[in-house]
Amino acid sequence: MKTTFCRIAGTGSYLPPRRVTNDELALQLAADGIETSDEWIRSRSGIAARHYADADVTASDLAVAAARRALEAAGIRPDQLDLIIVATSTPDMVFPSTACIVQRKLGIENGCAAFDVQAVCSGFVYALATADNAIRAGQSRRALVIGSEVFSRILNFKDRSTCVLFGDGAGAVVLEAASEPGMLSSVLHADGRYADILCVPGNVHSGIIAGSAFLYMDGQAVFKLAVHVLEQVAREALERAHRVAADVDWLIPHQANIRIMHSTCKKLGLPLEKMIVTVDQHGNTSAASIPMALDYGVREGRIRTGQTVLMEGVGGGFTWGAALVRM
Ligand code: ACO
Repeated sequence: MKTTFCRIAGTGSYLPPRRVTNDELALQLAADGIETSDEWIRSRSGIAARHYADADVTASDLAVAAARRALEAAGIRPDQLDLIIVATSTPDMVFPSTACIVQRKLGIENGCAAFDVQAVCSGFVYALATADNAIRAGQSRRALVIGSEVFSRILNFKDRSTCVLFGDGAGAVVLEAASEPGMLSSVLHADGRYADILCVPGNVHSGIIAGSAFLYMDGQAVFKLAVHVLEQVAREALERAHRVAADVDWLIPHQANIRIMHSTCKKLGLPLEKMIVTVDQHGNTSAASIPMALDYGVREGRIRTGQTVLMEGVGGGFTWGAALVRM
């Protein structure tokens, strides 16, 4: 078989079992004198609940659970992989990469390449594009691409404008070399001039954390940029694949805020029914949001073989990107 193309062979996801509704979160925050409500969170973001990992659970644990499901769906054994990429902003350690830890936990001893990508909420699209390039270049034949986050670890539960928006989870896909596409196009962008509007500005210095290790977000600045770049990058990905919006069966935008998602869908002229929505139940899970929504759509029987899916991410960096895929 000529290894010119790359296709998604299987998807998987994992949510930690602890589900926290807006009302439950509001009650917890009230104990610290922080006021919020189900009504505020729902109307501003579309979020109704999120999942949190227990204290002893790491991003690699969630990643491995999602990966096992994707490998099973693809009918591929872990030792058949030759590339593992994990997109995460909440890694287990400073180093080694979470991908190396995932490799060990999956019992893979074949020496396959493993590394993390750091593009925050665009991380999964960045990782997918990177793996697609490796497969189409003939460097890899079977790749595991994971988005995994324990964002609850970097939330300041005294900052109501951010802590209500995020959750934990992981999603994964197995990519393999194929005789026809598969991945139709991908587009990646970044603009470091906006690094400060969405960041965790701390770093490890001489054995201590210098600066804040909590997420900071200028919500309105992020909102404005996000609605602009999500439309633009979707059109770029379509154009690169010689497709138009009407060819898209399913839109999977980064699940950050239902208002941003609706706006993107409308700007592209797509009916809202063509968009996979999980933000209501998962909150914003950063790099995990797109692969989790993809797996949700596949397992619900909505996303089917042969259909065209447009995935697009946007997040800290500022980064953004899109991938058009024939399932
Ligand atoms: N509960 C109750 N009130 C609140 C809360 C809360 N949880 N949070 C903020 N408020 C208050 C504010 O204090 C403010 O009150 P004031 O008017 O008395 O000062 C009021 O609500 C309005 O606050 P805004 O920040 O103006 O609310 P806005 O409508 O802009 O919504 C939100 C905020 C939801 C954060 C929105 O800006 C947004 O979604 N931004 C984009 C986030 C996003 O998409 N992130 C994606 C990337 S994430 C990543 O890459 C990691």
